[in-house]
Amino acid sequence: MEWSREERYQRMEDVSEASIVKLAKKTSEGPYRQTFHIQPNTGLLNDPNGFSYYNGQYHLFYQWFPLGPVHGVKYWYHVASDNLVDWQDLGIAMAPDTTYDSHGVFSGTGFVENDQLHLFYTGNTRTPDWTRIPYQCHAVMGHDNQIKKDAEPLISDSPAGYTDNFRDPKVLKQGPRYYCIIGAETSDHQGAIAYYVSDDLTNWTYQQAIQLKGNIPTENQGFMWECPDYFELAGQGILLFSPQGMAPEGDKYHNIFQSGYLIGEPLDFATGEFEVTERFNELDRGFDFYAPQTMTDPQGRQLLVGWLGLPGVDCVTDEFGWAHCLTIPRELSLQNGQLYQRPVPELAALRGKEVTKAMTLDNETVVVEDFTARTYELKVAFNDIKGTRVGLAFRQGAEEVTIFYYDLVAKKLVFDRSQSGKSVTDEYGTIRRCDFSEETLTIQLFMDESSVEIFVNDGLEVFTARIYSQLDQNQVAFFADGQASVIATQWEISN
Ligand code: FRU
Repeated sequence: MEWSREERYQRMEDVSEASIVKLAKKTSEGPYRQTFHIQPNTGLLNDPNGFSYYNGQYHLFYQWFPLGPVHGVKYWYHVASDNLVDWQDLGIAMAPDTTYDSHGVFSGTGFVENDQLHLFYTGNTRTPDWTRIPYQCHAVMGHDNQIKKDAEPLISDSPAGYTDNFRDPKVLKQGPRYYCIIGAETSDHQGAIAYYVSDDLTNWTYQQAIQLKGNIPTENQGFMWECPDYFELAGQGILLFSPQGMAPEGDKYHNIFQSGYLIGEPLDFATGEFEVTERFNELDRGFDFYAPQTMTDPQGRQLLVGWLGLPGVDCVTDEFGWAHCLTIPRELSLQNGQLYQRPVPELAALRGKEVTKAMTLDNETVVVEDFTARTYELKVAFNDIKGTRVGLAFRQGAEEVTIFYYDLVAKKLVFDRSQSGKSVTDEYGTIRRCDFSEETLTIQLFMDESSVEIFVNDGLEVFTARIYSQLDQNQVAFFADGQASVIATQWEISN
C-alpha cells in the first residue's frame, strides 16, 4: 500500500486512541514477532539513538514512526535496562512537536555530563515547498527520565559547502573540549563528516570536514555518510559511518546502503586529520544491518547496537503494521588490526534448556534431532577440518532451509537465505559472502523468531539478517564435504 505524504506526516497525537489500539492488536497478533530483540509495538523502527549509561542504567532510544511500517514523521522511543537483556519500555521520549523538529526528531546521541543525560539530535523540518532544513538540537534528561528540549537549536545554519543532508550529531570529549561530528553530503555530492567544537556543550563552532589521509580510494565512497561515530580502541581511532550510494565491489556492498568503518591513527581534532591505516570495511556481512551506534559503558567496554534493517526496503511484516528491530548489543574490540564484535556476555542470562551434541562428519549431513528449539543461541566448533566445505543448515524442514558454510576452496564464508521462507528484498541478492581463510571455524548464532545474527570465530565476521520461516521448519543440521569434528550446544531462548 502506498502512503501519501499527508499520511506519513500525520502525528500520533492527531489520530484516535482506538486506531492505535487496533494497530497494536494487529501487530501483536501477527506472525514474526521477536522474542528477545527490541522491536516496535506498532509502526516502523529504524536507527538506535542516544545509546548511553546514565543514572545506573543503560538507556537506548530509537527512531520510530508509530502509525505504520513506513518512514514518516519520526519520534524517539525510549527503553532502559540494568543488564542489556531486559528492557523496560519507557514510551515516547521526544515527539516532533516544535518548530525545529516538525518533520521528525531525527537521529542523534546521548552524552553524560554533570549528572545529566544530554541528547543531541537533528530536528528535521520542511518548508511548504518541501525544502528540507535540518537543525542540530539539544535536550536534557534528569534522574526522573523526563526530557526537556532546549527552546532554540544549537546549530541553525548548516555551513557552506553542504547540501541539506546534514544530520545525526555524535558528541564526544577529547581533553577539555567537546566535539560534535555530523553526517553530511558535500555540495558536489560526496559523503563527508563535518565537525564542531565547544567548551560548554552549548556554543558550537564549525571547524571543517574530517580530512581522510593515507592510501584511500577516492571513487565509490558514497554521496552521503549517515550516522557517524568515533571512538578509540587499543590506541587506534575507529571512524564508523553508514554511506549511501556505494556500488557493489566483488562480495562487498550488496545491500541498498552500507555500514562500515575506517581504522587509523587517533583523530587529530586540532587539524581535522584522520590518518587511515585500514580502508573502509563492512561492519556486518549480512543482509539487514545499518546505522549502528556505540557507547562506552562503566566497565570501559565499547558497546554497539545497530538497526536490524535498512532504509528503502520492504519488510515481510509490513502487512501486520510494523517493521524492523534492533540488533543484540555487541562488544567491540580491536585485535591484530581487526575489529571484532562479540555478543555481550550478559545475553547468557537468556539461556534456557541446553542440549550438547558431538559428532564426526565424513562427507555427510547430520540432522541433530535433539535440537528442537525455535528461538535459541547455538554455539558450534568445527575442528580438524579437511575437504572443501563445512557448515550448518538451520530453520530447516521439508520446504525451507537457511545455510551457512565455509568454502575452503574459494576461501569464503557463504550465507544463503534463498530458501529461508518468505522472501525479502531479493532484488539485492539472496547470498552474501566474505573472504575467510582460518584453520578452524567457530560459530555463535542467535536465532530469534524472524532474525539471525551469526558471529564467526569469536566475532571476526558477523552476518545479520531477517528470516521469515514457517513455524515447523526448525531443524539444525551439520555437513562436511570432507571431514570435520563438530561440537555444538543449543540453548533455547523463550520469553
Ligand atoms: C539513517 C537515517 C538518519 C536519519 C534517520 C531518520 O537511517 O536516515 O540519517 O537521522 O535515519 O529516521
